[in-house]
Amino acid sequence: MIQIPRGTQDILPKDTYKWQFIEDRLHEIAQNYNYKEIRTPVFESTELFVRGVGGSTDIVNKEMYTFMDKGDRSMTLKPEGTAPVVRSYIENKMQHDVNQPVKVYYLAPMFRYERRQKGRYRQFVQFGIEAIGVEDPLIDVEVISMLMHIYQSFGLKNLKLYINSIGDQDSRAAYNQALVDHFRPSIDEFCSDCQTRIDTNPMRILDCKKDRDHALVQNAPRIYDYLNEESKIYFEKVTENLDALGISYEIDYNLVRGLDYYTHTAFELMSDAEGFGAITTLCGGGRYNGLLELLDGPQETGIGFALSIERLLLALEAEGIEIPEPEGIDLYICTLDAAAEATAGQLLHKLRAEGISCDMDYKHRKLKAQMKDADRKDAAFTIVLGESELKTGEVELKHMQSGETKKVSMDDLKQLSTLIEENGS
Ligand code: HAM
Repeated sequence: MIQIPRGTQDILPKDTYKWQFIEDRLHEIAQNYNYKEIRTPVFESTELFVRGVGGSTDIVNKEMYTFMDKGDRSMTLKPEGTAPVVRSYIENKMQHDVNQPVKVYYLAPMFRYERRQKGRYRQFVQFGIEAIGVEDPLIDVEVISMLMHIYQSFGLKNLKLYINSIGDQDSRAAYNQALVDHFRPSIDEFCSDCQTRIDTNPMRILDCKKDRDHALVQNAPRIYDYLNEESKIYFEKVTENLDALGISYEIDYNLVRGLDYYTHTAFELMSDAEGFGAITTLCGGGRYNGLLELLDGPQETGIGFALSIERLLLALEAEGIEIPEPEGIDLYICTLDAAAEATAGQLLHKLRAEGISCDMDYKHRKLKAQMKDADRKDAAFTIVLGESELKTGEVELKHMQSGETKKVSMDDLKQLSTLIEENGS
C-alpha cells in the first residue's frame, strides 16, 4: 500500500475546521495591522536559499528538498518565506511602491527534510509577515506586538518571549572573532557540526542542540558586550517601546537564530505549557538589514517573523484550548421513495441558490437511519418527503431543537428560506 511521506500529514475533513478557524483569524489580524497578502511560488531557484538563508545553516546544508528540473536548473521547494518575499520585492521593484513601508504576509506550505519529532514536520504551513523599507525600532515593536496579539487572541497563556540583538555587521564581526578565540582551543570537545561552524558561522555554536549544556557555551562571550553604540541604542529603543506596550519579554544573550540573515533585533516565542515539551519554538523572527543587498537588491532593510500552524495547534492542545466546532447544515431532506429523492434533489438545488446549506440521503437508507444522519450533520431543520407531500406540494418543516413544525408549500421558496434563516440554530 502506498503511504503518506514521512513527516507529512493529511488534514482530514473532521479537523479542517480548526485550520480554517486559525487561518481566518490570521488573515483578520494581518488586516488589522495593515499587512497585505503576497503569494510566491512553491519552488524557487536553489541559489536564492543558499545565498539568502546562508550556506552554513542546517536548512541549506541538510534540509532542502532540491531537484533538477527538466531544463537542468536546480530548484528547491521553499523551506522558508523570507528569501522568496525579498526576491519578489527586488524583482517587482517594490521600493518604488507608493505604499511604504511594504508590509506583506504569507500563509503557505514550507518544506524541510528534518528528523521526525513531535512538532517537526517535513511539510508545514507557515504564516509569516515581512515589513520592508524602514529601519525604526517602532516597526520592530509592531512586528513583535502582532505576534503576541496572534497567540493571545487564541487564549494562550503559557508564552515566553525571548529577544536579543545581534547588532550590525561591524558588531557581528567583532563578536564572531571573540567566539572563535573562546571556542577554538577546546573545539575538539564539540560535535562535528560545531567544528565546522567555528569556521563558517561561529554564532551558530550557541544555538547547537547537542552542545547547548557545554560549560563553554554557558559562559561564552555575550553579544551585548560587542554591540557598538548605535546597535545598543537601537536595541534599547526596542525594549523601551515593548515596555510601553506592556509586552513582557526576557533578554536571551545566546539567542542567535538558525538563519544567517539576521541583524539587530532577533526574537523567539516559546510555550512553557506542560505537555508542549521539547517542541521548542512557536515562532521566530528578526531584522535582516543586509539581505536585500545580498540578493542584489536596493539598500533597504526588513523585519518579520514566521510561525507554523502545526505548532500553534500543539500549543492550543497543551493548554486545553478548543477551537469552536462549526455549525451544522440548515436543512436535511429525508426521502421515502425514488420519486421523492428526485424532487428532493431539485429542491436542494433551488435552496442552495438561496444560500441555504442543505443535504439529503443518497444511500437509500431507511427513514430512521436518515434521521440519524441528519443528527450527525447537525441539521437545524428537517423535511420528510414522501408520496403525499409530492401530491399536495406541501411539506412539514421541522425545527429539530424545539420540535416545532410548520406546513410550507415547496414552491414557496421565499417562505421556506425565510423560515430557515430566521429560526436556524
Ligand atoms: P524559522 O525559525 O526557521 O524562521 O521558522 C519559523 C517558525 O516556523 C518556527 O518558529 C516554527 O513555528 C515553524 N517551523 C519551522 N520548522 C518547522 C517544522 N519542521 N515543522 C513545523 N514547524 C516548523 C523562518 O522561517 C524565518 N523565515 C522567519 C522570519 C520571517 N524571519 C524574518 N521574517
